[in-house]
Amino acid sequence: MFNIVVLASGRGSNFAALLAAQQRGDAPIHIRALLSDKAKAPALDLARNAGIAAVALAPRDYPDRASFDRALFARAGEFAPDLIVLAGYMRVIDAGVIGQWHGKAINIHPSLLPKYPGLHTHARALEAGDTLHGSSVHYVTAELDTGPVIAQVELPIRADDTTDTLASRLLTQEHRLLIATVDLIARGHIALGADGVALDGCTQRTPLKLNRRGTLTID
Ligand code: GRF
Repeated sequence: MFNIVVLASGRGSNFAALLAAQQRGDAPIHIRALLSDKAKAPALDLARNAGIAAVALAPRDYPDRASFDRALFARAGEFAPDLIVLAGYMRVIDAGVIGQWHGKAINIHPSLLPKYPGLHTHARALEAGDTLHGSSVHYVTAELDTGPVIAQVELPIRADDTTDTLASRLLTQEHRLLIATVDLIARGHIALGADGVALDGCTQRTPLKLNRRGTLTID
């Protein structure tokens, strides 16, 4: 089975969606642990209630960011993950630490990257007058939200959308995107090659797109 460790700082709805997919048998994955940098993250309770190892480490217990990241990723490594999934994990990771997980760590970000890395993506899309919003799953690098993009889901913005309505509509799509992407990775179809994201050995020029049926297709 394909082992996964999830990192989350908050609510954990993406973690829950992945777990539900595992339980339904929709993806050949085994979520081994949920790790967090926040002791009170609701995601930790979701993991505990599901009988999954829930681990919180506090950044303030470490002298600097690199030490914390080393400790957190060492703890993750104890679960022998084939993939580390950052799902609402709100910290940039030290370059030396994430470098050791090159091609083995992905993040889900609520924008159509390279648009809007960082925070407040829904508000920024609305302020810019965009008609299309979405979410991206990308490999994690040391720079915030800039690693090679694997897959995206697009969501039309409605004239009456607020940040709340947009965020909530997108979240449902994010869950589908994350499940479909992790499923393809777990089945060995996607990897990070020297030239970028490869699907069945072919380097992709553009991200895969999630269609209405929840399948990732080549654009
Ligand atoms: C999601 O919107 C994700 O894209 C972003 O943070 C949010 C996490 O939500 N990185 P949840 O904790 O998974 O519910």
